[in-house]
Amino acid sequence: MILKDILIIRQPKTKDELKAMYDLRWRILRKPWNQPRGSERDQYETKAIPYIALLGNEIIGTARFHKINESVGQIRYLAVEEGFRNQGVGSNILMTIHMTALNRFVKYILVNARINAVKFFEKHNYKIIEDGPLLFGEIKHKKMVLKFSKTELRLQKIIESMRKVVKT
Ligand SMILES: CC(C)(COP(=O)(O)OP(=O)(O)OC[C@H]1O[C@@H](n2cnc3c(N)ncnc32)[C@H](O)[C@@H]1OP(=O)(O)O)[C@@H](O)C(=O)NCCC(=O)NCCS
Repeated sequence: MILKDILIIRQPKTKDELKAMYDLRWRILRKPWNQPRGSERDQYETKAIPYIALLGNEIIGTARFHKINESVGQIRYLAVEEGFRNQGVGSNILMTIHMTALNRFVKYILVNARINAVKFFEKHNYKIIEDGPLLFGEIKHKKMVLKFSKTELRLQKIIESMRKVVKT
C-alpha cells in the first residue's frame, strides 16, 4: 500500500494535536494491556520532544525523544497506527529524531525496544546491549543503542564550530 498523501513529521502544535498524540500512544501501547489513561505519560513529558506523523489532518504515528545527559538521548513511545504500518512511517519518525539528536550533540540513542520492534530498530543500526524490562508482566524488551557513525559525528563537530562562529 502506498501512502495517499504527503507524510509530515513534526512536533504537535495545538492542544488538540497533543491530545490526539496521547490518545494514539495510549491506544497502541497501553490499552491492549488494560492500562489506564495517564499511564502513557511519564515524568519527562515537559523536557522531552514529542513528535507526530501527519497524513493530511490525521495523526498516524508518534514518538518521543529526550536527553538523559549531554551525549545520550532516549526514544520512548514509538507507535504507528496499525493500518499504516510497514510503509515507512516509523522509519521517517526515527530519522527525524536522529536529526534532532545530531543537532543537539547526542552521540548515542538508547531505546528499550519491545521484542516485536527489535528487527525494526536493527534495520536502523541499533544494537542489542542487554535484556530490558518486562512490562506489565508480559512484554519483553531489549535494551538497544544507536551509536552515530564517525561521519555523522564529524558533521556534528562542523555544526558545532559553525555555531560558535555565528555567535562570535
Ligand atoms: C515498530 C513500529 C513503530 C514500526 O513502524 P512502521 O511504520 O511499521 O515501520 P516502517 O514501515 O518504517 O518499517 C521499516 C522496516 O522494518 C520492518 N518492520 C517493521 N516492523 C517490523 C516487525 N515487527 N518485525 C520485523 N520487521 C518489521 C518493515 O518491514 C520495514 O522493512 P523494509 O524497510 O525492509 O520494508 C510499528 O510496527 C508499531 O507501532 N508497532 C506497535 C508499537 C510498538 O511496538 N512500538 C515500539 C515500542 S519500542
